Amino acid sequence: MFAFARLLAFVSVAALLWSEGGVARPQRRAQCAATLSTAKDVANRLQSRYYNTLTGQYNDGELWTDSNALEDLHNLMLADGSDDFGDVADQSYIGKAALNSGTNWNDLLNGSNDDAQWIILALWKVADYKAAKGQDGSAYVSSAGTIYDIIAGEWDDGTCGGGVWWSTKHDYKNSITNELFLLTSAYGYLRNQNQTYLDNANKEWNWLSQSGLRNSDGLYNDGLVTNTCQNNGQTTWTYNQAVVAAGLGALGVANQDTSLFDEAEVSLDATVNHLASGGVLKESCDDSSGTSCNADQSIFKGIWTKHVQYYLDQANDSARTAKYSAFLGAQADAINTNAITADKDVGNVWYASGGGQENPQASTAGLEAFVADAKYGPC
Ligand SMILES: *[C@@H]1O[C@H](CO)[C@@H](O)[C@H](O)[C@H]1NC(C)=O
Ligand SMILES: *[C@@H]1O[C@H](CO)[C@@H](O)[C@H](O)[C@H]1NC(C)=O
Ligand SMILES: *[C@@H]1O[C@H](CO)[C@@H](O)[C@H](O)[C@H]1NC(C)=O
Repeated sequence: MFAFARLLAFVSVAALLWSEGGVARPQRRAQCAATLSTAKDVANRLQSRYYNTLTGQYNDGELWTDSNALEDLHNLMLADGSDDFGDVADQSYIGKAALNSGTNWNDLLNGSNDDAQWIILALWKVADYKAAKGQDGSAYVSSAGTIYDIIAGEWDDGTCGGGVWWSTKHDYKNSITNELFLLTSAYGYLRNQNQTYLDNANKEWNWLSQSGLRNSDGLYNDGLVTNTCQNNGQTTWTYNQAVVAAGLGALGVANQDTSLFDEAEVSLDATVNHLASGGVLKESCDDSSGTSCNADQSIFKGIWTKHVQYYLDQANDSARTAKYSAFLGAQADAINTNAITADKDVGNVWYASGGGQENPQASTAGLEAFVADAKYGPC
C-alpha cells in the first residue's frame, strides 16, 4: 500500500514537472489569447518605463518586487509561448547573481528571510522557462537551493514553538515568511523529490495551522506578538491569503491529501468575502480618493491572483477552478475599466476609478492579474 501510494505520488509529480516545463496540458482549454495580449502590453510597458538594462533592476523597484516581476515575465512567456523577454533573466541583477557561483547570498539577501524566498520562486520560474526552451537553467536551480538552505536554517523552535524568523534580527515571526517557506518547501519537493523539503513543508504547516495567525474570519493577519505569541491583529494583506493557498496546493499534491485544498480555500474564500469591494480586490490602503499604499503594498493584490493561479495549477480540479474563475476575470475587467492607461501603465487601485499610483510594483500586479485571468478566468 505504501509503495503503491509512493508510486502514484511519483507519477503525479512527473506529470506536474512535465507541465511546468511549459508544455501545454492537452486537457486544459487554450489560454485566453486576448488577455495574454493585454498582459504582454503591460509587460512591455513595465520594461520600457521602469527597467534599467544597465543595473538589471527596476527604477523605483526593490529586490523582492523585482523578483516578482522577473518571475512574471517568465510566467507570461510560458503561457503565451513567446520569447519576448528571453534575454532579461541572464542580464538582470538577480540573474547575474544566480549565474555567478561566487555570489555571497547572505550578503545579498541582507537578512531578509521573506525577500529571499521571492527570489527562489523567480529563479525556479526562469529555470522552467529555460527548460522549455532547451536551455541550461541549472545555475538558477542551484542558486535557489543555496538560498533555500539559508532560509531553512532560520527555522527556530525556541520562540512560539516554531516558524521561520522574518529576518536575521530574530525579532518577529510573521505570516508571509512562513507561508513562503510552506510554498518553497512543498513546491520544492514536487520539483526535486528531496524528502528534506517535504519534511520542512509538513513541519511548517503543522506549526502555521496551530499558530493563531489565521483569524476567525479565515484571514491571515500580519504576524505574531513576539513576547506572547498571540496574533498581533495587524493588517490582513491580500497576498497573505493566497501564498498560503499555493503552498497548501503543493503540499496537498505531495501528501495526496485534498483536505489541504479545503484549507487553502478558507483564506481564498475569506478574501472574496472580506477583502473585496463590489467583487474586486481592495487592499485596506486602497482608496479611490487617494491611495495610502506604499510601493510594496501596491503589488499585493497581483500576488494574490498569481498564487491563486499556482493553487489551481496544483489542485487541478475543474470544480475548484470554477469557484474562482469569475472572480479572477473580474479583477482583469476592473483593471481594464478603472486602472489601466492608454500607455498600458497600471495603477494600484482596481475597485474604482481614481486615486491610484503608478510604479513598477503596481504594473507588475497588473501583469499578474492578466496572466492569471488568461489561464483560469472566463474568456
Ligand atoms: C489533472 O486532472 C486530469 C483529470 O481530471 C488528469 O487527466 C491529469 O493527469 C491531471 N494532471 C496533473 C498534472 O495531475
Ligand atoms: C540591509 O539591512 C539593514 C538593516 O535592516 C538596512 O539598514 C540596510 O538598508 C539594508 N541594506 C540594503 C542594501 O538593503
Ligand atoms: C536534500 O536537500 C537538502 C537540503 O537542501 C540537502 O542538504 C541534501 O543534500 C539534499 N539531498 C539530496 C539527496 O539531494
